Amino acid sequence: MTLKEKILEIKLRKKAVILAHYYQIPEIQDIADFVGDSLGLSQQAKETDAEIIVFAGVHFMAETAKILNPSKKVLISDLRAGCSLADSCPAESFKIFIKEHPEHVVISYVNCSAEIKALSDVICTSSNAVKIVESFPKKQKIIFAPDKNLGAYINNLTGRKMVLWNGSCEVHDIINLESVIRLKTENPDALLIAHPECKGVILELADYIGSTTGLLQFTIENKARKFIVATETGIIHQMKKASPDKEFLIVPANESCSCNDCPYMKMSTMEKLYLCLTNESPEIKLSESIIEKSKKPILRMLELSE
Ligand code: 13P
Ligand code: SF4
Repeated sequence: MTLKEKILEIKLRKKAVILAHYYQIPEIQDIADFVGDSLGLSQQAKETDAEIIVFAGVHFMAETAKILNPSKKVLISDLRAGCSLADSCPAESFKIFIKEHPEHVVISYVNCSAEIKALSDVICTSSNAVKIVESFPKKQKIIFAPDKNLGAYINNLTGRKMVLWNGSCEVHDIINLESVIRLKTENPDALLIAHPECKGVILELADYIGSTTGLLQFTIENKARKFIVATETGIIHQMKKASPDKEFLIVPANESCSCNDCPYMKMSTMEKLYLCLTNESPEIKLSESIIEKSKKPILRMLELSE
C-alpha cells in the first residue's frame, strides 16, 4: 500500500476526518476531506460528526476545532506548527493592553491562541472581518488584534479608528514591494491579488484583496488569464487545479527567494499525518475553563457569518 492508501484506510477505519488549510502541501490538500480558509475550516469543524478530527494546519486552527468539539479527539501532526502572528500576541501583555483601553470591545482575528480568544468579545477571519467589525455601531470603540495589517486595511475600508495590536504574519508582512512592481511591469496583463495580512503598500496596488478562499474564487470567476499572487504558495495548487489554463505568479518574499512558504504550515508531511492517525497523537488538550471562555466569541462569529 502507498502512504496515501494507508492514510485513507486508517481514516475510514477510525471514522476520522482530515481538515486541511490551503497552505498545506498539495499531497495533503488532495487527501483531505475538506480544504478551506480559516472560516470554512471552523464551520466544517462545527458541523462534523466524525469521532476524530485530524487538523492539517497550524496550532490555533486545531485549537479552534477542539473548542468547538470538546468531547472529540482533535489531532495535529506536529504540535510545533505554530504561527508567528498568534505568537506576536501573548496573553499577559494583551490583558494589560485591554486594561489600558477601557470601554473598547475586543475583536480578535482567528490567528491567535485560545487564551487570546477567551479575552475577546468576538473572533473574525479574513473573510468576515469587515462584516464582524460593521456589526458594531460606528461610535463603538474597538481593539483589533493581533494583525496590524488586516486591522489597518479594515480601518481604511470602514473609516473606523480601531486600536491595533502590533502583530503581523512573518510570511505576508515581508512580501516585497519591489517584486510586486517588477512582476506588474513585466506582466501588464496580469491582475494583482493579495491577502489582507500583506502590508498596506502592497494592498494599495491590488486589484482584489481577500481570504485564501476569496482569492481562489476570484481567479476562477475573473476573465483574466494571469494573476500575480501575494500570499503563501500553497494556494497555487487549488488555483491551478481549478483553472489549468491560467497562469499564477507568486510574489517572492524578497528578490533572491521565490518561496513564500509558511514554515509552520509546511511542518505537516504525509508521514507525520500517517503516524498521527495511527498513534492518535499529538492531541490538542485545553482546560475546560479556556474552552468555555473562548467558545462564546467563536460562536458569535459563526452566527454573524451565516
Ligand atoms: P485565511 O485562509 O483564512 O485567509 O487565512 C490565511 C492565513 O494566514 C492562515 O494562517
Ligand atoms: Fe501564521 Fe502567517 Fe503562517 Fe498563516 S501564513 S499560519 S498567519 S505565520
